[in-house]
Amino acid sequence: MTVLEQAAQASLYAPSVFNTQPWHWRITSDTLELYADQSRRLDTTDPQGRLLTVSCGVALHHARTALAAAGWSATVERLPESSQPELLARIRLGEEVPPDPQAQRMAAAIPLRRTDRRAFGDREVTEAELARLRRLVEFEGAYLHAVRPDQVTMLAISAELAGGAELDDPAYRAELRRWTHRPSPVGDGVPPATAVRPELRRVPVRDFTPDGTAGLAAGAARDQGAAYVIVFGDDDRPVSLLRGGEALSALLLAATADGLATAPISDVVEVEWPRHLLRGLLADIGQPYLVVRLGYVTSRDPLPESPRRPAGDAIIVIR
Ligand SMILES: Cc1cc2nc3c(=O)[nH]c(=O)nc-3n(C[C@H](O)[C@H](O)[C@H](O)COP(=O)(O)O)c2cc1C
Repeated sequence: MTVLEQAAQASLYAPSVFNTQPWHWRITSDTLELYADQSRRLDTTDPQGRLLTVSCGVALHHARTALAAAGWSATVERLPESSQPELLARIRLGEEVPPDPQAQRMAAAIPLRRTDRRAFGDREVTEAELARLRRLVEFEGAYLHAVRPDQVTMLAISAELAGGAELDDPAYRAELRRWTHRPSPVGDGVPPATAVRPELRRVPVRDFTPDGTAGLAAGAARDQGAAYVIVFGDDDRPVSLLRGGEALSALLLAATADGLATAPISDVVEVEWPRHLLRGLLADIGQPYLVVRLGYVTSRDPLPESPRRPAGDAIIVIR
């Protein structure tokens, strides 16, 4: 397998909205091209495809990280052809270089990272950790806002409003059901075993299974030490959303490498009014892409894995 094929394979571990994995890769001798797969867009939850593009950005950063960790330089062009908006990025392989230790740490976290929807414990995420994560996010061209203690109530209200509004919509419920009850060979979607039963939470977590089939309990912890961060950017242009996804990937992989559990929260940006409230938490200086809950788990029980599409489905090699 070539180094580009290995990088594309590593990217398949990337988290994505509803685990839709809305991308495919096209590999030639020295380029790796990332395409958005609009047939995997969530028409009700994400009609404009913002979260689709963010998800593709996560996959792009996973591939870049795998290349840097393997000791290869690469140049990346984002949205390289204006006539082909589905072509989100073209990575051109450069030369062999010394492996980047930071990329190696993050690459090692790629297969270990999971979305953990259980409540996190009392141990607090430190300011120093948040500052480290903020630097990584900014390096990728996005911004990070750590939600202040006095803002958590407004975040909780936003999540509550968003969750309620979505569940009131029969089209959303149908979409949710479609992506949580997949036929098993398909390799995508959110299995109920990875969803958490609704309970009173510091900030509500998306109820993936209103049919009561969730496999996880929130547990005895109360999210007291959890940090809530907002990844945001200047605007909602596709290139900005792509970079937002790359920043999200850097955040999740570095946090995982540091022993933190992570859980993205996007219902708050999917519904207009909660999204507006979130912009208020950012003092209206940017567009929120996503919230992430970070913290330490208290349970020793391993988390069930989410499935992934077979590589042959998502990677096309042109020989
Ligand atoms: C853009 C984006 C939005 C997401 N939104 C949510 C969310 O609102 N709630 C949630 O529990 N998980 C959310 N996730 C996590 C995905 O559901 C998860 O990545 C996917 O199911 C695969 O599972 P894994 O992360 O454990 O590999 C989101 C992930 C991404 C990249």
